[in-house]
Amino acid sequence: MTAETTNTQSSVSVRDVSKVFFAGSAPVWALENVSLEVAPGSFTCIVGPSGCGKSTLLRIIGGLEQATSGEVDIRNADDQIPAAFVFQEHGVFPWHNVLDNVAFGLRQKKVARAERYAVARDWLARVGLSGFEKSYPHELSGGMRQRIAIARAFATGSSLLLMDEPLGALDAQTRLLMQEELVRLWEAERKTVVMVTHGIEEALLLGDRVIAMTARPGRIKEDIDVPFARPRSMELERTAEFAQARHHVWELLRDEVKVTEEGR
Ligand SMILES: Nc1ncnc2c1ncn2[C@@H]1O[C@H](COP(=O)(O)OP(=O)(O)OP(=O)(O)O)[C@@H](O)[C@H]1O
Ligand SMILES: [Mg+2]
Repeated sequence: MTAETTNTQSSVSVRDVSKVFFAGSAPVWALENVSLEVAPGSFTCIVGPSGCGKSTLLRIIGGLEQATSGEVDIRNADDQIPAAFVFQEHGVFPWHNVLDNVAFGLRQKKVARAERYAVARDWLARVGLSGFEKSYPHELSGGMRQRIAIARAFATGSSLLLMDEPLGALDAQTRLLMQEELVRLWEAERKTVVMVTHGIEEALLLGDRVIAMTARPGRIKEDIDVPFARPRSMELERTAEFAQARHHVWELLRDEVKVTEEGR
């Protein structure tokens, strides 16, 4: 198996999903009647105010959390391979070196050692980390650690990548570079991606569509088709069309962020 031969695609169907947490004294309604169809090979970005249920939705799609009601249906060309996550934080194992971090998912799948290291090396090269195979995460920068997490997700061979603010912890310049890298990797691979982000520009640069959510309980406020042709680069951000789209998404979110702030 190589990265090139695993390019199967998944589709995701979320139907009427609601989620209530009963953790503290009062129940928390995290999601309310969320329905979403994700086409195979598409890149969907989810934006919304903090605490509106974005991570919860992603975890429900990935089977890490149960919906209180509603259904999630993943149609996968290879259902032996679960969705690959890039988590909001703590995305790498500090006790594994870089190579073992990237090869981790393949090891879970019991891919032979030589083969999983070959695939992992290939992905390390593609994210610009060749030469760091034997380093440990604490010896690397935050941006490099995120590259490991992204390389690992791609290397699993999963056709469904679920990313929760994969670039959220990076400084502004590194984040811009990583956005370009992510666009490039995805355009080459065309896996089905659902990505949560706080960055409106990031969502418009990367996504085929942007799902804007309301304040908690999270509902879908608007489902926006991103009109920009691919391949895309940062140059896109300088166009009037991009400014207009950014303004539109910001208007959608502004009221929801206010609701969140007032509720505090
Ligand atoms: N395991 C849990 N137990 C109890 N409540 C939870 C749990 N996970 C999430 N919540 C609550 O559900 C709501 C939605 O949380 P979630 O993490 O999905 O938000 P989010 O949109 O990802 O926020 P952020 O943008 O800050 O990451 C929050 O009020 C949170 O406190
Ligand atoms: Mg979150």
